Amino acid sequence: MPFIGKVILITGASSGIGEACALFFAKKGALLALVGRNEEKFASVMEKIQDCGVEMEPLMILADVCVDAERIISETIEKYGRLDVLINNAGYGGVGTIETATMEQFDGMWQTNVRAVFELTQLAIPYLIESRGNVVNISSVVSLRAFKNCVAYSVTKAALDHFTRCCAIDLADKGVRVNALNPAFIDTNFLTVAIGIEKDDDAYAEVVENMTKTHPIGRIGSTHDCVNAISFLAKDSSSFVTGVTLPICGGRSILSPEF
Ligand SMILES: NC(=O)c1ccc[n+]([C@@H]2O[C@H](COP(=O)([O-])OP(=O)(O)OC[C@H]3O[C@@H](n4cnc5c(N)ncnc54)[C@H](OP(=O)(O)O)[C@@H]3O)[C@@H](O)[C@H]2O)c1
Repeated sequence: MPFIGKVILITGASSGIGEACALFFAKKGALLALVGRNEEKFASVMEKIQDCGVEMEPLMILADVCVDAERIISETIEKYGRLDVLINNAGYGGVGTIETATMEQFDGMWQTNVRAVFELTQLAIPYLIESRGNVVNISSVVSLRAFKNCVAYSVTKAALDHFTRCCAIDLADKGVRVNALNPAFIDTNFLTVAIGIEKDDDAYAEVVENMTKTHPIGRIGSTHDCVNAISFLAKDSSSFVTGVTLPICGGRSILSPEF
């Protein structure tokens, strides 16, 4: 049981992939520090965790990763005294080509998807060295291949991938592994933030139908697909896996378009 008693810090745990991770690791007996901003969504996640009959109530940190990194780490250490796994999941996307994207869009995504991850990771390192722990960064398939109309988001995730590799090299001899996950389209609230489409809108069903065709495996991804891979990357302190950017994409990252 690799996660029993392990302290796992998950950012963006109030929704989507982060929420699914929180539920999974809670059921596996991990001690959780969860970060999110939306109080209502966060409360509903905490309720779901309690409904699983989990004994240890997670630490809920209402915080913005862009401004509260120090508080996030200090509250985690104050509560548990250690840190085993950092899952840098909080992030968001938006559309725009190099002609239409605004600098505000770029700066906002850079702050959340890159700068906050850099800061949180740096602050967590002393504790991860102590525990011989690991980091999992949630990147995206858009960092591996160029897709139209999402240049700012793609650049932030490409930076995150290289951050992953650089950290993996810096920390390998200290026993800390650093990896990334590169999902394709996953069924979460991502599009609500990115383009304002709610999951129960007709437009969402249309996007899903189109996306299904562009994922060779014939379906879009689920949070379950992501959690499976995250648990593989995070689980074993004796693992030989570090510095990888792992596509969870139903073949989308290897597809050659037919022109
Ligand atoms: N869904 C996809 O198709 C997909 C594909 C590839 C990669 N990803 C990546 O997967 C990660 C999770 O996204 P998701 O799909 O699960 O989307 P989601 O359902 O919208 O969840 C995003 C989470 O990030 C949190 N967050 C965003 N900015 C934050 C900030 N400044 N401080 C604290 N929390 C913040 C949100 O918290 P609040 O709601 O509480 O503000 C929410 O919990 C992101 O990094 C995204 O880029 C998603």
